Amino acid sequence: MEFIKVNKQHEKFIALIELNRPKELNALNRELMLEIRDTLRELDEDDTVRVIILTGGQKVFAAGADIKQMATATAIDMLNIDQFSTWDQIKKTKKPIIAAVSGFALGGGCELAMTCDMIVASDTAKFGQPEIKIGTMPGAGGTQRLTRAVGKVMAMELVLTGRFISAEEALSAGLINKIVPAELLLDETLKLARLIAAQSPVAVKLAKEAVNNTFNSTLDEGLIFERKNFYLTFASEDQKEGMAAFVEKRVPVFKGK
Ligand code: CAA
Repeated sequence: MEFIKVNKQHEKFIALIELNRPKELNALNRELMLEIRDTLRELDEDDTVRVIILTGGQKVFAAGADIKQMATATAIDMLNIDQFSTWDQIKKTKKPIIAAVSGFALGGGCELAMTCDMIVASDTAKFGQPEIKIGTMPGAGGTQRLTRAVGKVMAMELVLTGRFISAEEALSAGLINKIVPAELLLDETLKLARLIAAQSPVAVKLAKEAVNNTFNSTLDEGLIFERKNFYLTFASEDQKEGMAAFVEKRVPVFKGK
């Protein structure tokens, strides 16, 4: 990998992907996103991985899609290259992905964090959709995911002005899960990842799918979907183990079966 660093077993059950274009503030060129796509595909199929952390490190998460790579493209180039199609793999990944964000998460960087399932941010994090300032608009889900996360009026303001928000503002708007000191970003994200990695991977996968289904369904459809996934967990050994452990007053050992 040229633009990302991957550690499949950063610790038991937890994989770490680190964006690695520091000089360009981790700008998301097409090659980097292809590497993320291929890595996520591989990690999703690897039974030794239960949770994935995606980070840019302590200084910067990502300053957006690579402006230099697309500056002179025509609309038809953009259509043919269809660079955001590689992003679909993030949404398709069945295992939970936690974004660990420090410094700038702008444009595609903010969209990348929002496409993950949870966001832990450091006190230096800055989120924004500044595409409007370079004569364009979000193209990797920003108008949709930001609006669902923070509501219409705030999303409209951020998308139309390009204003950055601090971690505090992002937390109060419901964009992120929590704020931690920058030097503890990975440690604190790992704490969250461990809590999830200790659960049944089967139930985690089905529960993630049900939560995400909210955005594509009516309440009634979502409730039916949820109920079926709930029933489906009863086909797993993990459900038998989890409930037996509760009755026997012991800690369950989940195997993802
Ligand atoms: N694409 C390409 N290169 C970028 C970049 C980007 N998105 N963001 C930063 N860089 C490069 C800079 O060009 C600079 O490179 P050089 O040293 O070769 O000149 C290097 O990274 C360092 O950046 P700055 O010198 O600008 O650093 P700064 O601290 O002064 O400013 C910043 C930081 C405010 C983040 C500023 O770099 C900036 O505004 N970046 C662009 C943010 C942006 O507009 N993002 C949206 C991109 S479009 C998009 O993402 C579309 C989408 O929906 C997916």
